[in-house]
Amino acid sequence: MSEHSGKMVIGLYGGSFDPVHRGHVRVARAFVKQFKPDKLIIMPCRMPPHKEKSDGGSDELRFRMLSAVFAKDKKTEVSDFELKKEGVSYTVETLRELKRRYPEAEFMLVVGTDMFLTLREWKEAAELLSLATPCVYARGDSAEETAAYAAALERDFGVKTRYIKGAVDDVSSTELRDKIAEDIGVGRMMPRAARKLIDAVGAYHSETYRLEVYRAESERSVERKRFLHILRVEKAAIELAEHYGENVFKARAAALLHDVTKRKSAEEQQRMAEEFGIPGAGEFVKSPKVAHAFTAAGYAEHRLYVDDPDILDAIRYHTTGRAGMSRLEKIIFLADGIEEGRTFAGVDEIRAAAFEDLDKAMLISLEKTKEKIDGKGAYLHPYTAEAIDYFRNAAK
Ligand SMILES: [Fe+2]
Ligand SMILES: [Fe+2]
Repeated sequence: MSEHSGKMVIGLYGGSFDPVHRGHVRVARAFVKQFKPDKLIIMPCRMPPHKEKSDGGSDELRFRMLSAVFAKDKKTEVSDFELKKEGVSYTVETLRELKRRYPEAEFMLVVGTDMFLTLREWKEAAELLSLATPCVYARGDSAEETAAYAAALERDFGVKTRYIKGAVDDVSSTELRDKIAEDIGVGRMMPRAARKLIDAVGAYHSETYRLEVYRAESERSVERKRFLHILRVEKAAIELAEHYGENVFKARAAALLHDVTKRKSAEEQQRMAEEFGIPGAGEFVKSPKVAHAFTAAGYAEHRLYVDDPDILDAIRYHTTGRAGMSRLEKIIFLADGIEEGRTFAGVDEIRAAAFEDLDKAMLISLEKTKEKIDGKGAYLHPYTAEAIDYFRNAAK
């Protein structure tokens, strides 16, 4: 129970935390110090995957950073409630859920000045303000405006705004992202635990920095021979991407990570499939050679926090192919098959076709795979069978 009221007091501090910075930490700690709540829940909100831009962090990464930063703050917990919820999350819905879990509690909503000044426009503002007391951390230059807004809220909704004292949020996430994207040191703008995490996986950093991380990750994970193959796939992927006007960064990222889990044992592939929630992992037993493509995509998503679905799909389908492949998927599939170290019978035909017509090259390559599999009496992955039908139809 809180020291100054008979009721349990719970603070809710939501935001995108993209990325978490010094200002967030100051606000959270000042709130806990001043209001002595029983609990402060930090709630990162869901954001769409970064398909076109690549300057933000994935949902999972933002959650991990917050968890690392607040690991030692006993009263503070980071919740993935909104991250796990489908669709847009609204604070009123989150508060309803919290009320259901803690029916006796009193809620305080931690908000910055800019957000506070829009509270009336939030979804179901009247109910929201009946569920929680706004707790605002004010910028010095907006004290009057904030006070006037608070007075109007009290008049219209009977809610008394509280102020978090001494919490200055002087860091802008946008400015911080711009600095990291240029690989400029951000010093103490970002808490150490969060900075360590993004530096290790390359998130928010420049494309050059990220590619270095992905290359190093592959080099560390596979044997030398395989790593040299990966570098040749990167080279072929660049050539194809440039030839077809595809995004070269995405092609390089997918190429560098496509075989990152190739060295792992069958048991390890199964374990990763479970951990990453890979659908269709039951197929791994029947066609063990395809497992690494799915686990490599899982590894990229959950270990390196790659959240670009184009890159992830190009990794995921580089061995089986699939019906309706994207141009990037075809480029990675083919780059893997035609890199300059490949010498199998018929490779020159696929090589020439790849620069002429991706679909034609895909069909030749897939039919060769099928021939080989049929010859051995081995199992043909359903995605490959579907891909063959798809490219046969495309050729008609
Ligand atoms: Fe592979
Ligand atoms: Fe490969």
